[in-house]
Amino acid sequence: MYPTPTDRPTGSAAAAPALRRDLGLLDAVGVGFGAIVGAGIFVVTGVAAGVAGPAFLLGLVLAAVAATCNALSSAQLAAEYPQAGGTYEYGYRVLNPWAGFAAGWMFLASKTAAAGTVALGLAGYLDALLPGLPPRAVAVGAILVFTALNYVGIKRSSRVNLLIVSLSLGALLLFALAGAPSFRAENLRPFAPAGWRGVMEAAALLFFAYTGYARVATLAEEVRDPRRTIPRAIVVTLVGAVLLYFVVALVAAGSAGVPALADTAAPLHAAALGFRWPRVAVAVSVGGVTAMLGVILSQLLGLSRMAFAMARRRDLPACLEQVHPRYGVPGRAVLLIGAVAAVIAATGTLRGVASAASLTILVYYGIANLAALRMPRAAKLYPDVVPTVGLVACAVLALSLRPAIILTGAGVLAAGLALRFAVLGRRR
Ligand code: ALA
Repeated sequence: MYPTPTDRPTGSAAAAPALRRDLGLLDAVGVGFGAIVGAGIFVVTGVAAGVAGPAFLLGLVLAAVAATCNALSSAQLAAEYPQAGGTYEYGYRVLNPWAGFAAGWMFLASKTAAAGTVALGLAGYLDALLPGLPPRAVAVGAILVFTALNYVGIKRSSRVNLLIVSLSLGALLLFALAGAPSFRAENLRPFAPAGWRGVMEAAALLFFAYTGYARVATLAEEVRDPRRTIPRAIVVTLVGAVLLYFVVALVAAGSAGVPALADTAAPLHAAALGFRWPRVAVAVSVGGVTAMLGVILSQLLGLSRMAFAMARRRDLPACLEQVHPRYGVPGRAVLLIGAVAAVIAATGTLRGVASAASLTILVYYGIANLAALRMPRAAKLYPDVVPTVGLVACAVLALSLRPAIILTGAGVLAAGLALRFAVLGRRR
């Protein structure tokens, strides 16, 4: 599903051995849902509800608009540059190496924070299923276990991915159907107690729930007819996620009310406990745990491969390029990423790490939109209004987050640029 360490996903793409093209539209949509559906809908909806009140539903729609424009830009770029590597690759090719580096670095920061977020979310749902387990230990344990799986080269096969996606989508559909009769319009009042500021921060947080669609673009070397299949798969996945998320969030807020969602790390479980059939809560939690386990594995895998690709191009220290002689994975990159994600899971708060993950990925997509605007006109699939709206949306959402998060993100980016400067200096 991902480039193996022996592939050259970046830099020397022309010399890269080709990956086998055997995935169709359905496989690509399955990979998309597998990467998207996770802590965002199962957990961050509760955080966003606490920030904006029922108007977080509006935030969900605004985030969807931003995600759709960004996704179309990524699809357009992936169709023209069908090498693995995402915006790291596009930035290098279409803008300049520093922009490519910034995208890769922000991807690393975002996905590491996201892995921490998903691990904390997973711990919340496990706690709801099996009360008494210490949530921090569970979150850190999940990261360590998946780092170990990654280290020995275990990936989600297409079949396992399909099983995970069926369980998580099934759980969300069941939640929506079983919860609809408990919907009460008065639970949506007052609608926007925190005003537009709250709505915009909720939108920025909820952007996290849609991230992962870029994973589809990274399949560009493995799908049949990528110019057609990748954009269609991204659009199908995203439209599906938007509809499903909106219905689920509406049912959750309308049945349980915002305070019940905001006060827990397992908001859909809490909401389902109030349904006519409270056992739905168990099925929803099982679906949530499964989805989040899948997302963590895929995130850690994507992260270590990005670190490997960047080290290969000497954008990160060369030692991260080392491939494990037995398992064929970039072992040091896997361990380093796992260690940082474990520290985040051990120390972060859900709101803090979800915000950080959103901010950094918004910068990443900002660079993708810039690249989509600058790519050759003949290769563009969509009018420039798409990446322009995407770029503006990324900037507005990023600036809607709390100042402390924005400053931290700026610091992380500055540290990355300084690191590249130092690595380049040592090569001279
Ligand atoms: N979109 C992914 C999730 O919600 C990152 O967990």
